Amino acid sequence: MFNLELSEEHIMIRDTARQFAREEVAPSSIERDKNAEFPTEIVQKMGELGFLGMMVPTEWGGSGLDALSYVLAMEEISKVDASVGVIMSVNNSLVCWGINEFGTDDQKERFLRPLATGQTIGAFCLSEPEAGSDATSQHTMATEDGDYWVLNGTKNWITNGTSAGIFIVFAQTDREKRHKGITCFIVEKGLEGFTHGLKEDKLGIRSSDTCSLGFDNVRVHKDCILGEVGQGFKIAMESLNGGRIGIAAQALGIAAGACEAAVQYSTQRKAFGKPISELQAIQFKLAEMATKVEAARLLVYKSAWMKDHHMNYIKSASHAKLFASKSAVEVALEAIQVHGGYGYVREYLVERYLRDAKITEIYEGTSEIQHVVIARELLKEMA
Ligand code: CAA
Repeated sequence: MFNLELSEEHIMIRDTARQFAREEVAPSSIERDKNAEFPTEIVQKMGELGFLGMMVPTEWGGSGLDALSYVLAMEEISKVDASVGVIMSVNNSLVCWGINEFGTDDQKERFLRPLATGQTIGAFCLSEPEAGSDATSQHTMATEDGDYWVLNGTKNWITNGTSAGIFIVFAQTDREKRHKGITCFIVEKGLEGFTHGLKEDKLGIRSSDTCSLGFDNVRVHKDCILGEVGQGFKIAMESLNGGRIGIAAQALGIAAGACEAAVQYSTQRKAFGKPISELQAIQFKLAEMATKVEAARLLVYKSAWMKDHHMNYIKSASHAKLFASKSAVEVALEAIQVHGGYGYVREYLVERYLRDAKITEIYEGTSEIQHVVIARELLKEMA
């Protein structure tokens, strides 16, 4: 049965991530958000500390840890800066995980090792201008040409898009076969015809970079196919199952950070002759926020625990993402209310929690898609 006891190693990882977040990530977070500046040095340090390949085996340069360790670190880092959280989540769950699971030894040496050690970072390229939630309707085409596949098309909303060196790209190799005709390619930055668009000017997670990618007759060698021809959609879905745990942990971090900020502020701000924390109106808000954080935490840890115990965690990951992302938005909104006017200006950070929270209800499967996944799994269980 689900056991939430953290080992000494888990506690050590959580404390290391907490210290790193406070000392290295927090000081520049407001400026980076304002200027939409990518945290290059922070990402390098994360590589050195082992946060970029947390679940990658040590033989490929990773930290060889479990998913619970990963969500503990994700929560601490996202509590301070969700932009850094998403860079970490995409690299760990959507890029490293897939290469470790489906890659050849040669691919692991060439791509996984640099990704796990932070020599470069990765991006996951599934979404397209006309294929978001409906991920099977990929328009990007790959056609075989001798030892190469030639890619043409456009990808949208790609996290780490301008900074990554390695891209996991999905393309149709046989349109007739629908999702069974989708193949996954590992594409390196710098290939002829492979370009990126301008960084998106986003509402939140502004310190992470997001852009579109263009493929104009990009020649990718056959040895860069991840898995088998036609296996791409399965790889995408299975990567996203784990990715949703990562984003749920990011949302949990945002909610926990917003809640902590509200509690702290309420003890300092005085109104009607006493700290506002002594007013029942505020206490009820704090209690509601803390309850949502606690419930989200249980769902996130449970889904990670199920993954670690090789159980079917599809539904659990969607429960966690759906609830944690909704809670992050609600808790951030209430944290602003507790701060009053100060919550509405940049210096007080809580407005950023709200801007950062919103995306967690959109990427790696919208909340609507999480409902679809949960309902389908429920019905399968009943059948
Ligand atoms: N895990 C494993 N396999 C899955 C799966 C899952 N969660 N969901 C579907 N599949 C499999 C099905 O079993 C089926 O396989 P078979 O044909 O072998 O049986 C196949 O995939 C097709 O499934 P469906 O027929 O159910 O496909 P569908 O089109 O009806 O719906 C969907 C699938 C669940 C809606 C899916 O398209 C989906 O998850 N969409 C959301 C896409 C998404 O999350 N995008 C995020 C973009 S990435 C991103 O945001 C990264 C970033 O940069 C932050």
